[in-house]
Amino acid sequence: MAAISALNQTIVRLDASCIHEALGVLTSDFNIEILDTVDSTNTYLMRRANTHAPHATCVVAESQTAGRGRQGREWVSVPGGSLMFSLLWRYALPVSRLAGLSLGVGVAMVRALNEMGIQSVMLKWPNDLLHHHRKLAGVLIETGGESNTSSYAVIGIGMNVHLDEAARAEIAQAVTDLASVSLQPIDRNILLAALLKHLSIVLTEFEKNGLRLLRDEWMQYHAYQNKNVRISGLNQAQIQGTVIGIAEDGALLIRTEAGDIRCSVGEISLRLAE
Ligand code: BTN
Repeated sequence: MAAISALNQTIVRLDASCIHEALGVLTSDFNIEILDTVDSTNTYLMRRANTHAPHATCVVAESQTAGRGRQGREWVSVPGGSLMFSLLWRYALPVSRLAGLSLGVGVAMVRALNEMGIQSVMLKWPNDLLHHHRKLAGVLIETGGESNTSSYAVIGIGMNVHLDEAARAEIAQAVTDLASVSLQPIDRNILLAALLKHLSIVLTEFEKNGLRLLRDEWMQYHAYQNKNVRISGLNQAQIQGTVIGIAEDGALLIRTEAGDIRCSVGEISLRLAE
């Protein structure tokens, strides 16, 4: 099997036949495209979504030259040491109904990692994946609305598999990678197949019931559930309160001295209060 050498170790390259083999009976459900280098798998797939790329197209890249994170941030990755992909999912729903989708995606990611034997993975609202409060993966969802009854989401996932020191130094927050938290070496092809399987289950469920049946599970995984947090980015300067849960549209619910407030996805930054 072809391999690339990075991080002073041999890394298994992304390989379509390995991904299809790991997907088993689900293989025909996905249209998988592997790119060596791309600006951003999300940017690429958003362009393709507008020109009729099929439902469940997955674009995965060995490297990105302009990887994007949430809130306009850059996404730092290592060729061979990160898993970076985007999945196009078409919905028979108006785009306004996709608000809580990113929380469902977080549930799918935790399930996939648990299935691979990686435990203690938590979520930070709306959908960062953490391991002992260090970031393991992030999600960038972009949507488009075609009519009142159809829309699509491009779900971009970046997962740290084996970060080198240079990448860690570039990232302005506490990070970790699967190589540090897993007892076994990670094959990105098998990891991608596990993620696609669980995404397919959750994204289909979301179309039927929104977050209704996923909400309790999401709150079980929330690293900040019932914790005191400080929120910035709302109209008010900075406010402090206790996380009491999430609403069915994915909004975060916070109890403050002035009453309960709702924060919508994308609006705020959240930190634990000391
Ligand atoms: C975040 O945590 O801020 C979100 C990070 C999302 C990164 C992934 S990597 C694959 C896809 N392509 C991108 O440009 N971004 C997402």
